[in-house]
Amino acid sequence: MCGIIGYVGPGVSDRPLRVAREALARLQYRGYDSAGIAVANSDGLSFIKRAGKLSVLEEALAADPLPPASAAIGHTRWATHGGPTDANAHPQLSYDGAVAVVHNGILENHQVLRQELIEAGIEFQSETDSEAAAHLLARAYAELGDLPEAMRAVARRLEGTFTLLAVAQDNPRLVVGARRTSPLVVGLGEGENFLGSDVAAFVAQTDRALELGQDQVVTITADAVEVTGFDGRPVRAREFRVDWDASAAVKGGFATFMEKEIHDQPTAVRDTLLGRLTPTGHLQLDELRIDESVLRSVDKIVVIACGTAAYAGHVAKYAIEHWCRVPVEVELAHEFRYRDPVVTSKTLVVAISQSGETMDTIMAVRHAREQGARVLSVVNTMGSTIARESDAALYTHAGPEVAVASTKAFLAQIAATYLLGLYLAQLRGTMFPDEVRAVLRELEQMPAKIERVIGGGDAIRELAASMKDVESVLFLGRHVGYPVAMEGALKLKELAYIHAEGFAAGELKHGPIALIDQGQAVFVVVPSPRGRDVLHDKVLSNIQEVRARGARTLVVAEEGDQAAAAHADQVFWVPQTPTLLAPLVAVVPLQMFACAVATVKGLDVDQPRNLAKSVTVE
Ligand code: F6R
Repeated sequence: MCGIIGYVGPGVSDRPLRVAREALARLQYRGYDSAGIAVANSDGLSFIKRAGKLSVLEEALAADPLPPASAAIGHTRWATHGGPTDANAHPQLSYDGAVAVVHNGILENHQVLRQELIEAGIEFQSETDSEAAAHLLARAYAELGDLPEAMRAVARRLEGTFTLLAVAQDNPRLVVGARRTSPLVVGLGEGENFLGSDVAAFVAQTDRALELGQDQVVTITADAVEVTGFDGRPVRAREFRVDWDASAAVKGGFATFMEKEIHDQPTAVRDTLLGRLTPTGHLQLDELRIDESVLRSVDKIVVIACGTAAYAGHVAKYAIEHWCRVPVEVELAHEFRYRDPVVTSKTLVVAISQSGETMDTIMAVRHAREQGARVLSVVNTMGSTIARESDAALYTHAGPEVAVASTKAFLAQIAATYLLGLYLAQLRGTMFPDEVRAVLRELEQMPAKIERVIGGGDAIRELAASMKDVESVLFLGRHVGYPVAMEGALKLKELAYIHAEGFAAGELKHGPIALIDQGQAVFVVVPSPRGRDVLHDKVLSNIQEVRARGARTLVVAEEGDQAAAAHADQVFWVPQTPTLLAPLVAVVPLQMFACAVATVKGLDVDQPRNLAKSVTVE
C-alpha cells in the first residue's frame, strides 16, 4: 500500500517533477486517498499535496507548478493512521522544514515517539504515524549533519514496517531511503537514479534495478547508489533486469485498465507457459532452485495466499493432489501465520502473490521458513519481497497489473501452479511422461480458448446492463468450479459493490438455500459433461433446486452442454476444456460481468473504493 517514488537527476530541470508525476500515475493502484510531491533545488524544498485522487493533485499542479529541481520524492497514499486529508497526505515535513519524508507501512511505536517529540516542544500538524519519522529525522540530521547517517539512526528507533524516503532542504543532490519489510527497489539510470515502492515506479525510465534487503538504507545521487545495513555496514545489492514492457502499463485504447487486463489474459497465460519444455518434451522449471531430492520427499504442500491469489491456490489444490498424490492444504496467509500450523522440513509451502508485497503473505512466508519448511513463491513482480525471501520463485508472466482487482494475474497464477503440479508429478513419477505432455498440450490451447470467451462478451454486457440494480448475487460451483464461484463473487463485490457470495454447490442445502427467493440471481459454474458425469449431474441437480425456489439461473457451461442449458435462464458458453483446466475459461465471463456491472453503475472500475492493490500492512 502507498506508492513511493524517489529521483535524483544530473542538474536542475523539470525532469524530477515529471518523473514523480508519471510514477505516481503508474503507482495509483497502491493507494489513492491522497498524493503529494516534494522537489529539492538550491533554494530548498517545495512541495504540494492534496487529498483525493491523483487528478486533484494534477489540477493543483497545473495551477501552481513546482519549480525545476534536481531531486524529488512522491507518494500516493492508502490511509492507515489519519483520514485522507491534505494535512495527512505525504510528504510530511519536519517541524523546522529541514526534511520532507514519504512513508509506506505502519510505525507501531509512533505513539511513544509522538509523545516524546511533543514533550520536546514539537507541534504535530497531522494525525499520521509518519510525521513522527519526519521530526525524528530532522533532529538526527541536525545532530549528525549527514542524512544517510541520520536515516540509519532513525530507522533503528522505529518499530513496525516502513519504507521511508527523505530529501533535505540543504542537500538537493540526494535522496535517502530506508526499508524494513515494506518494499523498496532501486532503478539504475544513466546519470540519474530512482527509488520506487515497486518497479512500476520507474519501468518507463530504466529496466535495470537493484533489490534491497531487510533493514537497509540506500542513498541515491545522480551517479551513485550506496546501500548499507541500519548499522552502517556496506551491503552489495543484487542487480536484476525488469522484463516488463512499460507499454503494458498503459490502457492501450481500452476505457479502463481492467478491460485491458481482461483482454491481456490469453497473453498472460501464454507467456507464463512459454519455454518450459526441453527439446525432448521434458517439463523444466529452471527457477526451482530447491533440490530435487527435497521436492521428492515433500509429504505435504501448504498454499498460502490472500484474496484472489488464494482462490488460485484452491484451484491448484485440485490439480496438484490429482496429479501428484500429495496432500495440499490452502490457507489464507493471515490465518496461517497466527495459528501455530503443523509445518516440518518435509512441507513445501507455496506462497502465491501478484505483488509479492502482501504483508500477510510475507509474514506467513517468514513463519513457514522459521519452522523449517521450504518456501516456493509464485509471484508476478520481480524484485519483490516474497520472491526474494523464498527458497525459490516461479514467476508468472502477466506483466504489470494496474487495475486494483486482479484478473490476468489470477489466470497466470493458475497456469503457473499447473506447471508446478506437472513438474512435481514428473519428478515424483506419479504421471507418465506422455500424460504430462498431454496436459501440457491442452494447456497450450488455453490462450486461444480464453480469447474466444472474451470475444463473446456481448451477452454478458447485456446481462450486466439489466442487473445494475440487483442487491445480491450468488455464485455456485463444485470441484474446481467452487473457487471460480468464490472469485466471481469477490469480483462483483469489489468492483460493483453488490453483495455476492460464492458457495460450494453441495453446501447449498446445508443452509444457504434459505437465501433463495423469487428472482434471486444465481450464477452456476457447470463442470464439463464429458468425463466426470457424476459431478456434472450433481451440479445440474443444484441448478434445479434453486430454480424450483424462484432463482434466476445464469449458467456458465461448456459448449454443447444442452442438459445445462435446459435448466438455465441464460447460458454463457465456454469452449470444451478438461475439468481441471476449466477455471481458466470459466472465470472469464464472471470477471467480465463484474466489470460491466461496475461500468454501467458509473463506478471507478480500476480503483474501487477502500481498496489498494498491494496490501502492505497486516
Ligand atoms: C482481488 C485482489 C486481492 C489480491 C490479494 C492478494 O481482486 O486483487 O484479493 O488478490 O490482495 O494480493 P497479491 O496477489 O498481490 O498478494
